[in-house]
Amino acid sequence: MNEKLRIFSGAQPSGTITLGNYLGAIKSWVDLQNDYECLYAVMDMHSITVRQNPAELRKRTLDLLKMYIACGIDPEKNIIFVQSHVPSHAQLGWVLDCYTYMGELSRMTQFKDKSKSHADNINAGLFTYPVLMAADILLYGADLVPVGKDQMQHIEICRDIATRFNGIYGDVFKIPDGFMPKAGAKVMSLQEPSKKMSKSDPNPKGYISMLDEPNVIAKKIKSAVTDSEGVVEYREGDETKAGINNLMTIYSAMTGSSMDSITSEFSGHGYGDFKSAVAEAVVEHIRPIREEYDRLSSDKAYLEQIYKAGAEKAEAIAWKTVRTVYKKIGFLAR
Ligand code: TRP
Repeated sequence: MNEKLRIFSGAQPSGTITLGNYLGAIKSWVDLQNDYECLYAVMDMHSITVRQNPAELRKRTLDLLKMYIACGIDPEKNIIFVQSHVPSHAQLGWVLDCYTYMGELSRMTQFKDKSKSHADNINAGLFTYPVLMAADILLYGADLVPVGKDQMQHIEICRDIATRFNGIYGDVFKIPDGFMPKAGAKVMSLQEPSKKMSKSDPNPKGYISMLDEPNVIAKKIKSAVTDSEGVVEYREGDETKAGINNLMTIYSAMTGSSMDSITSEFSGHGYGDFKSAVAEAVVEHIRPIREEYDRLSSDKAYLEQIYKAGAEKAEAIAWKTVRTVYKKIGFLAR
C-alpha cells in the first residue's frame, strides 16, 4: 500500500507564464513531489469558459506542460497530464452539477469578477467552473490541494459538494483540504505593487515572463517602482514599502535568505545595488529552466510520450471513481 498523501493541482494554459505563477505555484509543486504522490494537470477545459483561439490554446497547453517539466516537476515521479485527455473530468463534472445549487455557485467571487470582465460572454461553463474543479480533485481522492488564496473558495465548495454527495450515498469521496504552501510567495506587479503580478497586465514592465531574456529581466527589475526612503527593509502592510517588500519577497524566494538577513546584506547600499542583486538572482535562477524549456521545445516526441503516459495513469484512477459514482447514483452498468 502506498501511504503517501495524494496531491492534485493544476493551472490554466492562459498564456505567458510569469515569475508570479512560478513562485506562487509551480515552485512549491516541485518541492512537494518528494513527500507526496502528486498529480499536476494542465486545465484546458477550464480555459474555454473564456473564448479561446484554438491554435493558441493548443500551443499554450503544450507550453505549460513544458514549463512544468522545465521547472523541475519530474514526469517519472508525478502524474503530469492534460485535463481534456481524461474524459472522466467531464463525466464527473456533469454528475456533480446535479448536486450543486445555483445559490452557492452565484456566491463565488471569481464568477462575479469574471462576469464583470467578460460581460459579453457570461456562459454556463463560467458559472459551473467550480463544479468541474471539484470533479478534478475528487476524481483522484486528493488529500491536499495546494492553491493560491483566490482559489480557496473553490476548495470550500468542493468540500461542500463532496460532503453532500457522501451524505446521500455513503463515503464515496475523500474530503480534500486546500492549503497555501509556505514556500509559495505572492509576487506583485513591478509597476503597481499593490496589484498581483499578472500576465494580463497591459504594461509588460509590470511582470516578468519565465521566457524573458536576461537583459529584459534586468531592465524590468531596475525600473520597478520603489520609494524614496532608500532603506531595504520589509514592512508588512506598509503601502509605501509595497515595491521594496515585493522585490525582497522575490529575492528571498530566489536565495532562501530571510528578510532580516537581506536587510543587513544591503544596509548602507542604495536601491540600485539591491535591484542589481535581485535581477542577477532572478536571471540565474531562471537560466536553467529556460534552457530546459528550449531543449523540450525541440523534442516533441518526448513531450507526447509524457502526456500520453500521464493521461493513461490519470485515467486509470479517475475511471474507478466515475464507475463507483455511476453505480451509486443508479446508472445501469454497460
Ligand atoms: N481554478 C484554478 C486556477 O485558476 C485551476 C484549477 C482547475 C485547479 N482545477 C483545479 C487548481 C483543481 C487546483 C485543483 O488557478
